[in-house]
Amino acid sequence: MAQNLTPRLQAAATLVRGGGVLADIGTDHGYLPIHLVKTGKINKAIAADIGKMPLENARKSVEQNALSDKISLRLSDGLKSFSPDDADEFVFAGMGGTLIAEKLSETPWIKDEKYHFVFQPQSRAEELRQFLYENGFQIEKEIATHEGRRVYIAFSAFYNGEKTEYTYADCFLGKLLPTEDAKNHIEKQILRLSDRYNSAALSEEESKTLFETINKLKGFTND
Ligand SMILES: C[S@@+](CC[C@H](N)C(=O)[O-])C[C@H]1O[C@@H](n2cnc3c(N)ncnc32)[C@H](O)[C@@H]1O
Repeated sequence: MAQNLTPRLQAAATLVRGGGVLADIGTDHGYLPIHLVKTGKINKAIAADIGKMPLENARKSVEQNALSDKISLRLSDGLKSFSPDDADEFVFAGMGGTLIAEKLSETPWIKDEKYHFVFQPQSRAEELRQFLYENGFQIEKEIATHEGRRVYIAFSAFYNGEKTEYTYADCFLGKLLPTEDAKNHIEKQILRLSDRYNSAALSEEESKTLFETINKLKGFTND
């Protein structure tokens, strides 16, 4: 039986292009690659993690599912232990957007049209989107979902070298569609930005940007 995924990981799985070798960076338990191989969406996977214990968790799950011939394990900080031909698709799920952007920026060879990316940032998604806009990546599709009261977002992207002109609001909205989950997510971002707007000592320009961004995000939630 395919590994059942939580809505958060299911959103990431839905965005996977499939068909090739997928590298799951920060895999921990390995549930995502196991699910994707079992459902036939991918042929092979590399389950990678910076930590020995998480990788041990993944090893156990892979062995329990008799998938050692299809899913290999790799100790790696981001993509540092990867070569350009190791995988066609990369998933970064369950890490902060700041960390994901940092790991991407350490790896110049990922700027290649042949790769497909799926991101599920746990926080600071705006920093990851900003990195993608500035570095020639295109956001393809976004999904918002929830587990209990917590909303999660996931999005797919590819590189084509064309930088995207963006406003600060675009960094929060990406290609989210105005679903109930997406609106809830944006409402939380409005609260966060409003706190900053009200409490921090801001320059006139920062204040103006925050004011405009909050208004644009409110427009999305009222859609
Ligand atoms: C919260 S878990 C997410 C597990 C799984 N991807 C998911 O979404 O359910 C985050 C994992 O990322 C790993 N991690 C943190 N920093 C990393 C890095 N620089 N490179 C690779 N893995 C990293 C952690 O060891 C941990 O296992």
